[in-house]
Amino acid sequence: MFLLLLGGLAAAILILADMRSITVAKQKVLLRVYSLGPSQGAVVEVGTSRSGQWPSRDGHSTLLWAELCRRDNREFISIDINRQHLERARDALGPCPATLIEGDAIDVLPRLQYPIAVLYLDGADAPEQALAQYHAAANNLLGHAVVVIDDCHSYAMAGSEGKGTMLLPYLRSGGYHVTIEELRPGRPEKMGWAQRGDRNVPVTT
Ligand SMILES: C[S@@+](CC[C@H](N)C(=O)[O-])C[C@H]1O[C@@H](n2cnc3c(N)ncnc32)[C@H](O)[C@@H]1O
Repeated sequence: MFLLLLGGLAAAILILADMRSITVAKQKVLLRVYSLGPSQGAVVEVGTSRSGQWPSRDGHSTLLWAELCRRDNREFISIDINRQHLERARDALGPCPATLIEGDAIDVLPRLQYPIAVLYLDGADAPEQALAQYHAAANNLLGHAVVVIDDCHSYAMAGSEGKGTMLLPYLRSGGYHVTIEELRPGRPEKMGWAQRGDRNVPVTT
């Protein structure tokens, strides 16, 4: 009995350590891409942090973006189709400013009035959604905006580049420089991000 309990405890510790490491790895990439994007403009996220618990297998991205935008006095908008997830995020954010919008991102994104510096796509697994969401936001993207897509590895039904299976090739062919980040050495999880040209050179097309 004692050995069983010990085994259970060890397994729980390993699972928590694994969740922490994926969350931290995702946040490191988000911090880096944030620093590479335009210094003005909004951060717009599709897929709000749904877990009030730290750590989880997600990136706790909403809390990170909100804190960065608060520090830098920028607009942060997070869109989610699930009201409960938004409510959990609102609780976790406390007084930190963030505009949380309930709805399908395809409908919400074209209505946004802000120039977008960072577009973070972390909604449903279906690759066609990430592509459609990019198109829905495209008119508001600043010249050197960074487009970030979570889960760009093969999993479930998502295809060889996960949520980015359709969008990443589209961005590559459209002149974006695409980077695929391996989140943890030797592990499958990847995040993709794309930026057009050099952010220090004005985009002319
Ligand atoms: C992986 S979770 C987001 C995790 C979060 N970015 C984080 O790092 O903690 C995906 C979220 O996308 C939302 N979602 C799925 N399809 C959506 C859609 N079409 N429009 C907006 N949100 C959507 C889900 O409700 C879910 O909360």
